[in-house]
Amino acid sequence: MKDFFDLIRMRQSCRSFSEKPVEKEKIVRCVEAARLAPSACNSQPWGFVVVNGGKLRESAAQSAQGAGANHWAENCPAFVAVVERSGLAGEPVDQKWGKFNLGLAAMQFCLAATEQGLSTCMIGAFDEEKAKKAMRLSPEERLCLLIAVGYAADGDPLRKKDRRSLRDVLRFAE
Ligand SMILES: Cc1cc2nc3c(=O)[nH]c(=O)nc-3n(C[C@H](O)[C@H](O)[C@H](O)COP(=O)(O)O)c2cc1C
Repeated sequence: MKDFFDLIRMRQSCRSFSEKPVEKEKIVRCVEAARLAPSACNSQPWGFVVVNGGKLRESAAQSAQGAGANHWAENCPAFVAVVERSGLAGEPVDQKWGKFNLGLAAMQFCLAATEQGLSTCMIGAFDEEKAKKAMRLSPEERLCLLIAVGYAADGDPLRKKDRRSLRDVLRFAE
C-alpha cells in the first residue's frame, strides 16, 4: 500500500508503453476500485469493457488515435472503454452528473492501476465510431472515455506536475 500522496504524484499520463502484457487480475482490481466510486444518488451509471491484448488490440489502438492524435497508443497492450449507462434503479442518463460520476470512477481505476505498478492514460480524443466497433460496444452504448493501460517503457521518467499553484486555486471564504 503506497502513501496516498505518493500514489497521486506517481499517477501520470503514460504515452510510452512497453510491450509487456498486462495481467488480467490487475485490470479486474482496477475495475473493482472504479466500481466502489461514489456517484450521485448511488446511481453507478458505468460499465467497463476491456480489450487486453488479443485480436482486438490493434483496432482498439487505432481507434484511440482520433483526428491524428495519440500515435503513442499504437504499442499499448490494453484499452478500457468507460461506458455511460442508465442508473442502477433505471434512472435515465443524468445530463448534469453523468460524466462527473464516470470521471470519479475513471480516476479510481487509474489510481488502482498506479498502485499495482501499471501506467495509464485517459483518452478523450478517440474516434468514436471506430472505438465502439473495436471494443465491441452496441450502437446504444455511450462511450465516454478510453483508458490506455500497460507498463511504462523503460526510461519513462516521473514528471513534475504542471499545475496551477495552491495559491491560485484555494481561497478560504470569510
Ligand atoms: C478526460 C481526459 C481526456 C484526456 N485525453 C487525452 C488524450 O486524448 N490524449 C492524451 O495524450 N492525453 C489525454 N489526457 C491526459 C491529460 O493530457 C493529462 O491528464 C494532463 O495533461 C495532466 O497530466 P498527467 O495526467 O500526466 O498528470 C486526458 C485526460 C483527461 C482527464
